[in-house]
Amino acid sequence: MSKKIFIKTFGCQMNEYDSNRILDTVKKIGFIKTNKIKDANCYLLNTCHIRDKAKEKVYHEIGRVKKSFQFKKKPIVIVTGCVAQAENEEMLKREPYIDLVIGPQAYHKLNNKIEVYLDKQKKIDETEFDSVAKFNYLKKIKNSSIKVSSFLTIQEGCDKFCNFCVVPYTRGPEYSRPFKEIINEAKNLADNGVKEVILLGQNVNAYKDENYRLSNLILEIEKIPKILRIRYTTSHPKDMTDDLIEVYGMSKKLMPLVHLPVQSGSDKVLKLMNRKHVIKDYLKIYERLKKINSSIEFSSDFLIAYPGEDKNAFEATLNLIKKIKFINSFSFIFSPRPGTVASNLKLIERKVSLERLKLVQKELFNNQLEMNRFLKNKVINVLVENKMDKSIKFFGRSEYMTPVIFDSNYEDVGKIIKVKITNSNQNTLFGERVKKSNLRVA
Ligand code: SAM
Ligand code: SF4
Ligand code: F3S
Repeated sequence: MSKKIFIKTFGCQMNEYDSNRILDTVKKIGFIKTNKIKDANCYLLNTCHIRDKAKEKVYHEIGRVKKSFQFKKKPIVIVTGCVAQAENEEMLKREPYIDLVIGPQAYHKLNNKIEVYLDKQKKIDETEFDSVAKFNYLKKIKNSSIKVSSFLTIQEGCDKFCNFCVVPYTRGPEYSRPFKEIINEAKNLADNGVKEVILLGQNVNAYKDENYRLSNLILEIEKIPKILRIRYTTSHPKDMTDDLIEVYGMSKKLMPLVHLPVQSGSDKVLKLMNRKHVIKDYLKIYERLKKINSSIEFSSDFLIAYPGEDKNAFEATLNLIKKIKFINSFSFIFSPRPGTVASNLKLIERKVSLERLKLVQKELFNNQLEMNRFLKNKVINVLVENKMDKSIKFFGRSEYMTPVIFDSNYEDVGKIIKVKITNSNQNTLFGERVKKSNLRVA
């Protein structure tokens, strides 16, 4: 009987990368991927713990799986990711339908745990932090991503301990993968047809392997001819070092969108959050980068209604958004996470929190709309990713990560082409492929 695995992923890009690597791993013991849950004899849920009712969402999801298999043989049910790390054996006790609970730093043990389970029906939770062993194991398994744009994890974990955040507890301490190993993986991705690499880490710009920093990685990956675009996420303002800023003046493949989470525009709130940066430094980074290349744009994460955010502090966030004109940003209402310093603080009234979120999003969406409208009738560079499902149109992304939809053909997939923008909405640009490249690019 063929062994089929169904993988469902919640959370950040690191989880998406992990899910792909998990698939590469279980292929070694004979599993193939299925997109039909009912065909699966292994169901894997890769979870996120960052906000809201993360834990309840997981049990709810498992409940749905149970229902799907009501009249069929039960699949092996595996929970991985950040909820697995936070809850560990509690999950096995609370939901007997779950068979294995594997934390993010223990994926190298997954095949063995599945085999032990198949052999002895032994339920296991494995949540040791062992990043070195994990990446040592994974480097021997080919990253078989064949997407035009692919993630590449270079760093994991976090030592910053912002008071609101679970990541230091679920992903463990900061760990940077060896420089050479990353370059090999990038070359391998390029050989598979990947054209854009997105370097990933919970604190990607804290990357450090001996004297190598993120800037060195970018310049080395730049030398791989088949790689056309380089991005990185997510960075912390404190680690925007001079060498990384200067790389924007040197690299031709590094995209001009800087995703730099600020969380709040108020120094008072940043201090309460234990963010370890102030607004003056953030603005300095912004100004320096704009000086190097005025077409650089910023995107960010905003944490709204953190306990202690008074009216003035909130106004400061709005003012910062007006000043920097962030595009493509994320905003969330603070959600208390168990085990963090901020877990028991007095919350700002729900109604006020929602109003503030609405105001922030209105400002952010306006920036986005304005930026997209400005591009009307302009020609932009688009990396073509794929043909869209259920449409004859193709999908790609601008240099600023904005989705672009246009007429094209399969030959363009993996190429950077010129698209004249004819229309847009808040999130997407629509356009026509430009045949000759003698038009000016915006
Ligand atoms: N390392 C990145 C940084 O320092 O900004 C952030 C990584 S975190 C996975 C992604 C985003 O989730 C954060 O930037 C923050 O805005 C949001 N987040 C984290 N904890 C949260 C919480 N307790 N409630 C709501 N949003 C949260
Ligand atoms: Fe979480 Fe702060 Fe670490 Fe980012 S820097 S992952 S927000 S603790
Ligand atoms: Fe979620 Fe863990 Fe990523 S909590 S955001 S999956 S690091």
